[in-house]
Amino acid sequence: MKLIFGRSRLLRCAAAVLFALAAGSARAQAPAPAKPLLSDQAFKNVKVLKGIPVDEFMSTMGFFSSSLAENCLFCHVLESAGDWSKFAEDNDNKNTARRMIAMVNTINKNNFGGRRMVTCYSCHRGAGHPKVIPSLADTVLIPDSHHALPFDDAFRIRLAAEVRRFLLGERPS
Ligand code: HEC
Ligand code: HEC
Repeated sequence: MKLIFGRSRLLRCAAAVLFALAAGSARAQAPAPAKPLLSDQAFKNVKVLKGIPVDEFMSTMGFFSSSLAENCLFCHVLESAGDWSKFAEDNDNKNTARRMIAMVNTINKNNFGGRRMVTCYSCHRGAGHPKVIPSLADTVLIPDSHHALPFDDAFRIRLAAEVRRFLLGERPS
């Protein structure tokens, strides 16, 4: 009994998803509305990403998530998971993200003529907290790594030994 109920609910859900997809593609074929709904009209607490279409705003949220390899709740209060209106609330990471947006805009304006050359991904590379130093293992310690520096073998072996000694505290054997 329970199973049948479960399955029919599942079917209804699937139907709803298909309907939404069909509605989506029908909408995609219709001429675009003259004025798309803008972020600060649709949302309650937009301070930085103002005046952009809602679709673009949401893709930006997706971009943040994938740049940092974190889900939405990294920057939004936990209650957002069950209540859409809670996305409007602020927390530390959300405020940090606002500062980061301003920083990225300034970097691009001052160095790249306003082109979007530096993004969240440039530094974060799939981490909430960006790395400060590259992994030496990738370059020096693994001789046949494709990132290996183009030094000759003798130099690379000496360099690797130095790196081990200074950074990893290994004694020469
Ligand atoms: C790296 C941090 C970060 C991540 C990850 C993130 N957001 Fe956001 N989100 C923000 C910031 C910052 C704002 C406020 C933007 C502003 O003030 O212009 C915001 C605002 C929003 C708003 C507007 C709320 C309102 O009413 O004011 C929604 C909705 C939202 N995010 C949804 C999402 C969803 C869904 C995800 C996951 C796909 C997500 N966010 C992931 C940082 C993030
Ligand atoms: C120039 C490099 C750089 C860029 C570009 C950058 N970040 Fe950051 N971000 C950092 C560093 C470094 C930290 C750690 C700061 C600290 O520990 O005080 C950080 C921290 C954060 C944090 C807090 C994470 C934590 O665990 O404390 C969030 C959220 C964040 N960044 C979001 C973003 C978003 C969103 C973007 C794109 C709009 C972005 N960052 C672009 C360097 C960058």
